[in-house]
Amino acid sequence: MTPATDAYDPLAEDILRDPYPVLAELRRREPVFWHTGMESWALTRYADSVQVLRDHAAFARNPRRTGGTVPEPSLSVQTLDPPQQNRVRSLFMTALRAQDLHAIEYRARLLVRERLDSLAGTGAFDVVAKIAVPLSVAVVADLLGVEPPPYEEYAAVSDAIMRSMDGGLDPALVEPGRLARHRLSDLVDSWFTASPRPGLLAQVRQSTGPDADASARLYVKNSARVMFQGGYSTMAAAVGNAVHTLLTHPGALEQMQDPALLATGVDELVRFDGPVQGTTRTAVRACRIGGIGIEAGQKVVTLFAAANRDPAAFPSPDDLVLDRSPNRHLGYGWGPHSCIGTTVAQAGLRALVAALAEHPARLEAAGDGVRRRTATMRAFDTLPAVLLPRHR
Ligand code: HEM
Repeated sequence: MTPATDAYDPLAEDILRDPYPVLAELRRREPVFWHTGMESWALTRYADSVQVLRDHAAFARNPRRTGGTVPEPSLSVQTLDPPQQNRVRSLFMTALRAQDLHAIEYRARLLVRERLDSLAGTGAFDVVAKIAVPLSVAVVADLLGVEPPPYEEYAAVSDAIMRSMDGGLDPALVEPGRLARHRLSDLVDSWFTASPRPGLLAQVRQSTGPDADASARLYVKNSARVMFQGGYSTMAAAVGNAVHTLLTHPGALEQMQDPALLATGVDELVRFDGPVQGTTRTAVRACRIGGIGIEAGQKVVTLFAAANRDPAAFPSPDDLVLDRSPNRHLGYGWGPHSCIGTTVAQAGLRALVAALAEHPARLEAAGDGVRRRTATMRAFDTLPAVLLPRHR
């Protein structure tokens, strides 16, 4: 039998194409296994992943809690744990709740509609470059209340950062990622020096005025960067994956013209083939997961892609069930580090699907997409499609 660690090579061609059969096999055979490449315990069961993500006292996200270091530019909502994280996280959550998500969704739907209008009848095009990138940059910039940076230029910076998340597997990716982070920091700095437009950023800036201590201001600025970069890159990847799922499930798009199915369906698209493949925590103390002893200081990777297809949590896990309810999938994470932008991402995905479903032209695949060689994020580099007249 192939050892689990060899069976699951996240960058192997067949896994990039379709990771789910191998993950299902591992879940049956060895649900908690040591992965040599990732130097971590890998979890494939839903319940085990939830246990780790929920128990932030035992499983740290903040490397400082387990003897590691965090460079100053990386101190953010993402790298702090409760209770230190609470203030900055609730600042962003509160500011997000105050934004008009209906208006953001409406503008996003118009953007997709206009893009589809200009693409219809022009032959094959790339869904990633022509729809996923502009939609995701626009939605996140609209939420924050900043001028969207030029799409292509920003996509290149963001891609370098996204690829560097696999730096543990390929050290050559680290330096380009560091340079790209610098460029992004300059962009975010410019937002903090310019006079604010209405939006989430103006609100968090107001709450951390000149009286706030230096570390609070640093956390806020760094978290704004995470919000923009993390929000854009996961959203763009989710759009590509969602369009691919719709293209390979005839009838799904038409069914999602029903508002109820649109609402539940966008969550199912993220469960079915979401962008974030997993996340890492470090055990603060010795403990047991799924009957396996984990030592203090060892890393644990919760494989969302496996948990979201766990039959113990989701009936018919390999089927796309647009009205699945409940659907407490891990595509947006769980616990104190769960996605802050979930409601925005849902709005962006609804805008995408609604615009595709209502458009007079019908979207069809125009060849195979090319999967991005990244382990942490499941995405397409390119996804060719074409808009054809509908048969009446
Ligand atoms: C469909 C699109 C999206 C998906 C699937 C997604 C998924 C996720 C996941 C799985 C996490 C948790 C990672 C972990 O536990 O390590 C996360 C965290 C986060 N997401 Fe999203 N996300 C999406 C869109 C967005 C958007 C649009 C924004 C902001 C505008 C955003 C902002 C964040 C932030 C700030 C965090 C860090 C939260 C923390 O560590 O406390 N995300 N996201």
